[in-house]
Amino acid sequence: MLYEGKVALNIEVEEIPTRNSRVFYNPHMRLSRDLSVGVVAVYAKRVNQPLTICDALSGCGVRGLRYGLEVPQVNRVVLNDVNPHAYEKLCEHIELNKCSTERYSAYCEDANVLLHRMRNQFDVIDIDPFGSFLPFLDAALDGIRWGGLLCLVATDTAVPCGVYPRTCRRHYGVTSLQTSYRHELALRIYVSTVIQRSAQLDYAFRPVMSLFQQHYVRLFGIVIPKAYEADKLLDEFGFVYHCFRCEFRTLSKRPLHECPYCLRVMRRVGPVWLGALTDGEFARDVVDELKRRDYQDAARLAGLLADESKILTPFYDIHALASIWDVSPPSMVRLLMELEDRGYRATRTHFSGIGIKTDAPLDELRKAMMKVAQ
Ligand SMILES: C[S@@+](CC[C@H](N)C(=O)[O-])C[C@H]1O[C@@H](n2cnc3c(N)ncnc32)[C@H](O)[C@@H]1O
Repeated sequence: MLYEGKVALNIEVEEIPTRNSRVFYNPHMRLSRDLSVGVVAVYAKRVNQPLTICDALSGCGVRGLRYGLEVPQVNRVVLNDVNPHAYEKLCEHIELNKCSTERYSAYCEDANVLLHRMRNQFDVIDIDPFGSFLPFLDAALDGIRWGGLLCLVATDTAVPCGVYPRTCRRHYGVTSLQTSYRHELALRIYVSTVIQRSAQLDYAFRPVMSLFQQHYVRLFGIVIPKAYEADKLLDEFGFVYHCFRCEFRTLSKRPLHECPYCLRVMRRVGPVWLGALTDGEFARDVVDELKRRDYQDAARLAGLLADESKILTPFYDIHALASIWDVSPPSMVRLLMELEDRGYRATRTHFSGIGIKTDAPLDELRKAMMKVAQ
């Protein structure tokens, strides 16, 4: 028997769980689940009503059960997994955790069938598949209520990171590039795909928190079935322009052919959403919620997301810049202070331990780095 959060689990822990595991449980995803509890808790406080949640690809059920047992406003939890062994485990875990069968139910269906069948019934839907959330997105939009919270996972991150550009074009509608900030680009591509697909079905998906961790991305957004709101989101689409010679990058709705610094032809990725990937205010509330629960690692992560949410320019890899500018990589703390002294925003980023986000222009960043490197 083991515990995660307030949930007891009777499951054998495998070192590396795979899609061939009899019942899937990955202890290394605990951080993602802690964070998700914080997000659902903040959402619950904001809407201030009893919530019905669907954990549509439950595995052993840990995620859905944690929402039910750790967020007081959650009134009803629907767990589901197409794997019959997982379904048995869901029933066992409902009983083990003394969850009332009036509030907790388990199903053994294809997630798409379940979500279409239970149309418009859920305030929160969590889609945590192997690979991409895309095959489940339409059904999730069908299953969610007005103003509901959609929580998505994707693990096919090599695709939008530029490793498989043709697959990226097929699945996500854009050709990606392998830049030094490809993880941020990938996150932007995922968010854009959800906004665009939702808009095609007349839903607006407004991202409230998005993050990239080792091998997966996590997106949270509020869904409103309003074509007008969807149009407003689409108005914020444009391109990420990148110069492979001098590392200049910018987000723009206007065409940009030449790098303003070195005159090289710019490469671009898009159309993509140019707005914030995380709502800073929402993320701050998540930090408070997680601290109260003593989920310190998740609180730290949410804090970084809040800090970096206001800076839209993709993060800079300090080692990549140091190599181009032929200086030693500077102390991160001193570089951040130097940029702030010069009147710019600057912060660490959750994307990389050697990355910073700043709204300083590239030449100002260069001056700051040269000064710190002296
Ligand atoms: C990554 S695991 C879920 C992990 C779980 N959410 C957690 O936090 O531990 C994906 C699960 O989706 C299930 N699955 C795969 N395809 C499905 C489908 N079409 N409908 C429902 N469940 C499916 C698999 O059996 C597997 O248990």
